[in-house]
Amino acid sequence: MLKLGVLVSGSGTNLQSIIDSIEAGYLKAEVAVVISSKKGVYALERAKRHNIPAYAVERKNFDSQEKYEDKIIELLKEHSVELVVLAGFIKVLSPHFVRAFPSKIMNIHPSLIPSFCGKGFYGMKVHEAVIDYGAKITGVTVHFVDEGTDTGPIILQKAVPVEDDDTPETLAARVLKEEHKIYPEAVKLYSEGRLEIRGRRVIIKR
Ligand code: GRF
Repeated sequence: MLKLGVLVSGSGTNLQSIIDSIEAGYLKAEVAVVISSKKGVYALERAKRHNIPAYAVERKNFDSQEKYEDKIIELLKEHSVELVVLAGFIKVLSPHFVRAFPSKIMNIHPSLIPSFCGKGFYGMKVHEAVIDYGAKITGVTVHFVDEGTDTGPIILQKAVPVEDDDTPETLAARVLKEEHKIYPEAVKLYSEGRLEIRGRRVIIKR
């Protein structure tokens, strides 16, 4: 069974969608550990409710980014994690972390990459930028993590319409609904060995 390590920073609804997909038998995997960049967030509560080992590892308690990441790597290895799933994890991970799990880290981003992504585009800022720009379509992207910010090979994308009366909040809610479908689907494809990375492209094998 594929062992997942889920990294979170907030409410953890994407973590929940993965847990629910496993419990429903849709996804054959196990959440081996949940690690949060912040104490007291609801995602940690969700992990505890499902008896998943959960830790908060805060950057401020480490002298360097490398030592911070080493602690996270240590916990992931301790729990024999095979795929790292970033689910609303707001800290940017350095190449040091990425090299510890080459092509074994996935991220979900609430826009159609390469639009509205990269440095500074996180959380509600993404949806604000989409509305300010006047885009008619946004969406969700699940991608492998490489050494850049939101630049890794794209696994799945889903378009979501922007309505005239959208606020960042209403748009975020519509996008989040799709996130909860697409992330379990991407992890499922990975767990079935159906994702093949060819340069920038991810081929989904039948
Ligand atoms: C999601 O919109 C995700 O795409 C983004 O952060 C949000 C996390 O939400 N990276 P949650 O903590 O999974 O509810």
